[in-house]
Amino acid sequence: MGKSIIVSANRQFFDRWAPHYDWSPFQWWMRKFHRAILTELKRKQTPAIILDVSCGTGELLKSITVLNMKHRLYGVDLSSRMVAMARKKLPTAAKLFSGDVHQLPFRSNTFDYVLNTESFHHYVEQEQALRELNRVTKPGGKIIISELNFLFWPAHWLFQKLEPGCVKINSRKEMRELFVGAGLRHIVQSRNFLFSVTTEGVKL
Ligand SMILES: C[S@@+](CC[C@H](N)C(=O)[O-])C[C@H]1O[C@@H](n2cnc3c(N)ncnc32)[C@H](O)[C@@H]1O
Repeated sequence: MGKSIIVSANRQFFDRWAPHYDWSPFQWWMRKFHRAILTELKRKQTPAIILDVSCGTGELLKSITVLNMKHRLYGVDLSSRMVAMARKKLPTAAKLFSGDVHQLPFRSNTFDYVLNTESFHHYVEQEQALRELNRVTKPGGKIIISELNFLFWPAHWLFQKLEPGCVKINSRKEMRELFVGAGLRHIVQSRNFLFSVTTEGVKL
């Protein structure tokens, strides 16, 4: 399947899912991906400019507003319906956009934090996606990606087969290599739960 066809199929899939995405048992699962990021941001006392790439219905951004109202929040997602759901629950100061991770609608060197949860496996050009995350991060800023990572490799294979729009789930080592390849430094990885690993790196 061509790359633009996969992106377009993902957009349609998530547009259809958006009205039901906040179903609470599913959000229990999603909160596991948000936890490590919120722990990091709790330590941040000074206001930061934060972008959530593939922000979905804005649940992570909503949790960040509870931590510190002074952060300047931005979100972007391929699905305009996901963005519309996010808009309903976030303060008007949060800036939300529809856009593709492969070509982000932001200037270079803009954000202190660039966040990404449970979305990276949907990207058709993962190196290009990480280059874009890196481009919009300020020097000294941090990229934090919480991604699917099951303890057992066969679960990756099964998920890739079954989940619509799933392109590739990376192993922990592959994710680290992508970060190294993008020129990120001080790379730290940690397991959140049985099915998620967070990788973070600093742009120098
Ligand atoms: C499983 S949801 C995760 C949403 C959110 N990050 C969360 O933690 O709930 C995956 C999200 O990735 C978005 N997405 C998929 N492909 C994308 C792309 N090429 N560019 C930007 N967002 C994309 C989808 O629209 C969807 O909202």
